[in-house]
Amino acid sequence: MLTETTLPTSMPRSRVLALPPDLGQLLARAPSPAPPGKDPPCAGWSRSVAKYLVPEIVFGAGVLDEIGHAARRLGAVCPLLVTDAGVLAAGWGEQAVAHLRAAGLSPTGWSAVTPNPKDHEVVAGAQAYLAGGCDVIVAVGGGSVIDATKAIAVLVSNGGQIFDYEGIDLIARPIPPLVAAPTTAGTGADVSQFAVITDTTRRLKATLIGRTLVPDISLTDPRLLVTMPDWLSATTGLDALTHGVEAYVSRAASFLTDEHALSAVALVGQHLERSVHDPLDEAARTGMARASLSAGLAFTNAILGAAHAISHQIGGLLDLPHGMLNAILLPHVVRFNAAAEPARFRPLAAALGVRDALDLPDDEVGEALAREIGVLATAIGAPETLSGIGVTEDDLPALARQTLHDACLTTNPREVCEEDVSAILKAAF
Ligand SMILES: NC(=O)c1ccc[n+]([C@@H]2O[C@H](COP(=O)([O-])OP(=O)(O)OC[C@H]3O[C@@H](n4cnc5c(N)ncnc54)[C@H](O)[C@@H]3O)[C@@H](O)[C@H]2O)c1
Ligand SMILES: [Fe+2]
Repeated sequence: MLTETTLPTSMPRSRVLALPPDLGQLLARAPSPAPPGKDPPCAGWSRSVAKYLVPEIVFGAGVLDEIGHAARRLGAVCPLLVTDAGVLAAGWGEQAVAHLRAAGLSPTGWSAVTPNPKDHEVVAGAQAYLAGGCDVIVAVGGGSVIDATKAIAVLVSNGGQIFDYEGIDLIARPIPPLVAAPTTAGTGADVSQFAVITDTTRRLKATLIGRTLVPDISLTDPRLLVTMPDWLSATTGLDALTHGVEAYVSRAASFLTDEHALSAVALVGQHLERSVHDPLDEAARTGMARASLSAGLAFTNAILGAAHAISHQIGGLLDLPHGMLNAILLPHVVRFNAAAEPARFRPLAAALGVRDALDLPDDEVGEALAREIGVLATAIGAPETLSGIGVTEDDLPALARQTLHDACLTTNPREVCEEDVSAILKAAF
């Protein structure tokens, strides 16, 4: 298996970003008008843009102790601590409160978030923030808690309805300072400029994207992962894998995101199975925490692709675990995308441990990577088909239609039409 230090770095990569206008604005400013006079000697150079946005990152076993100081450094006196029932039952909420108090703060706790966080929960959280006279917002939880926290922060500072901000760069006012401590190793929401909220009326998950949503401080303590049940370790780990794969082949990938994406995929290959089968293994948990972080750093800047665009629709319809849906879809999306640009998938296959991946002919690379992902998913007990988790044939047409509106589709490396999504859904069914 490939280790992080032997990652292939020599693959050809001189891609000029060709983004649709709205995403282009997200990633780069419009070029300034050419100055008057003679063309500079580099006038013929192609224009390429790489942009990279990250929060302050604190990483290491025991750093949950720092959460009070982190909030205080952001000006907290009365922070809102957002968490959920599972994280409270695991004991991490109580520990976070103790650390906030030890730093001289008066936290208000709020924990009415459910997986795939709902629009009405965000409204209730915003009311708790305002009622508590809060000044900083602290999330301790998985992606659902962190996304709900971001959405609460948007509502208290911008007003309106949360879906007024669905899409890219529509949040005008800055949000309150935000600290995020992930308790799962998968979503990367603690570093990302995304928040995904379930619209209970439209029955889909809507994505908000913008630099405002990047937390001020990401605080990863791998110890928090040991209380995850096995199915959660498995599915969140496969979410991190999906982030690494989709970010690497994204139309917005750059040299700034590629190394993080490949590193994430390699770390998942090395540590995911062990972290599921031996939950107290420190090296495996630390490796998966790093995988989640690296994948987050890659996809928050490179954005994602068709697996996420489709899984958001299914997650909104059936309230199923996000990582589980991605894991089922990813091999089929890899086959679809690799058929158009196989070379880009070769380093990914090598990073995940496909034997002799760098020497595989183009027409075998996508299939080899898709199969390796399937083998890993099966080894950790993840389901393999959509029909097996409650999706019905009647659901498929609406899912295909809605996918076309998801922001993550914008950066998929291959153009996708409704028939393509239908074919991917049928293959995964
Ligand atoms: N914002 C982003 O960039 C981004 C990226 C990917 C996914 N997401 C979103 O994140 C959500 C999924 O988050 P998730 O996969 O982290 O799971 P989750 O936050 O939905 O948590 C799932 C369950 O696990 C419990 N749990 C969490 N951590 C635990 C721990 N350490 N010990 C015991 N129980 C624990 C929770 O209480 C909950 O019941 C989805 O809504 C998805 O759309 C967001
Ligand atoms: Fe994800």
